[in-house]
Amino acid sequence: MIKQDDPLWYKDAVFYEVYVRAFHDSNADGHGDLPGLTAKLDYIQNLGFDCIWLLPIYPSPLKDDGYDIADYYNIHPDYGTLEDFEILTKEAHQRGIRIIADLVLNHTSNQHPWFQSARKSRSSKYRDYYVWSDTNRKYKDARIIFIDTETSNWTWDDTAGQYYWHRFYSSQPDLNFNNPAVQEEMFNVMKFWLDLGIDGFRVDAVPYLFEREGTICENLPETHDYLKRLRKFIDTNYPGRVLLCEANQWPEDVRPYFGDGDEFHIGFHFPIMPRIFMAIRKSDISDVKNIMARTPEIPSNCQWCTFLRNHDELTLEMVTEEERQWMWQEYAPESRMRLNLGIRRRLAPLLDGDQRKIELANSILFSLIGTPIIYYGDEIGMGDNIWLEDRAGVRTPMQWENSPDVGFSHADPKKFYLPVINDPIFGYEHINVKDQQNCPSSLLNQIKKMIAVHKAYRAFGRGDFSWVDVDNDAIAAYYRTYQDEKILVIQNLSATSQAIAFPLDTIHQPIDILNQKKLHLTNKPPFSLNLAGYEYLWLKI
Ligand code: GLC
Repeated sequence: MIKQDDPLWYKDAVFYEVYVRAFHDSNADGHGDLPGLTAKLDYIQNLGFDCIWLLPIYPSPLKDDGYDIADYYNIHPDYGTLEDFEILTKEAHQRGIRIIADLVLNHTSNQHPWFQSARKSRSSKYRDYYVWSDTNRKYKDARIIFIDTETSNWTWDDTAGQYYWHRFYSSQPDLNFNNPAVQEEMFNVMKFWLDLGIDGFRVDAVPYLFEREGTICENLPETHDYLKRLRKFIDTNYPGRVLLCEANQWPEDVRPYFGDGDEFHIGFHFPIMPRIFMAIRKSDISDVKNIMARTPEIPSNCQWCTFLRNHDELTLEMVTEEERQWMWQEYAPESRMRLNLGIRRRLAPLLDGDQRKIELANSILFSLIGTPIIYYGDEIGMGDNIWLEDRAGVRTPMQWENSPDVGFSHADPKKFYLPVINDPIFGYEHINVKDQQNCPSSLLNQIKKMIAVHKAYRAFGRGDFSWVDVDNDAIAAYYRTYQDEKILVIQNLSATSQAIAFPLDTIHQPIDILNQKKLHLTNKPPFSLNLAGYEYLWLKI
């Protein structure tokens, strides 16, 4: 069962991001579903994950893979029923795993009955649920997010005889948070799922809730006021449940989303992510150092959430123009790899399918700061398919086994919602769960080890962080300390071996906690250490 005794459980946790459609299909229709996920909970438990984040599971015309919600109170028929959801939650809880799901506040689908009613009549009670205008010239300072598809944040609606506002696809009209009725609707939505047993929400696209002329319509004070009310609602009625903030912003702009510990419990740290990729490609940790220096302290009951990849393009919004060009050139040399301001590729192909680099990236993820999230499939190094539409190429069926149906479904693979990855490097013959489970040195088993060790030491989730100066930018070395725990992480970002010197007191009787053995120090103090290319060490001092 989940332990209820620690209200700060999320600080030491490891999260797993699951796209239900991709995970496991229980009824042979070619689409993953909730019972399929339930059937695979042992796998998730065995890896050591504490919490699953489900991408949207609600009825939707799927113009944005479910982020366009047509009914907040039900399950998409491809995924099953509300009862299936209850079973999933119950089964997960029995295994000590929590479940959170996306809460999409900012917009609905244009197929949502609210929008359908709103567009048909100015006197509909739902008209004011959305943001309408006679001109498309308002809020000109708001940027366009899906730049490859949308040319404006306004779209003309013939039926309505007005423009409506949308920050994402034009099929996703923004809700009008000035309207108290909209604000109340979302409390009802939260209550519904919390009563069903959900453990919290990943709250989607929070910076954009309100619009104000003369601003960029992001991170407005009204937004924070409203979010604080959501938090209060949770604390009062559902203590122990969490809110995870999706604000793709600079650290100083995410900081207010933690409030005084009274807004979000957890917030994604977006800008660290591309800098981990920069560091590995450049064999130089400086960019990560700079963004860490720019990362403010957060209240003690809050936590950063870090990730390497997710279900979206690898976003390059939180880098300079020059850095973005560099990232594209290095990691997305073909134009098809680029999408909006990002890169539509998965972790393993980005890192050349090189297990040493993939492990290294994960070592940084698991030891740097905050609560790590792994995107399904990245634990086995799944590949991508850049030729699929939009972000579908990083959302393909989970590769369980070496067979044409990859153990994902009993349907004919031709009927799968997307084709499985079948290229010479990342195809299911080479990359699948079963083979990696049977191989002690596989990526899967290395990640399992990192999860276990991350969870065994509170220093990782709660400890202080300080860099160790080793006078070599190819080495990322830092201490994580919590009470009497002191952990020294040393990672070689380069392909060549590096020798580094450590002061005696630092390297006193270190234990390699990933491999459970004493570090062999051959020479006399001052100790020096030789790290092989891309080697990483987590040492308990
Ligand atoms: C978030 C989601 C993304 C979605 C967008 C609009 O950024 O991660 O997948 O398209 O919100 O809802």
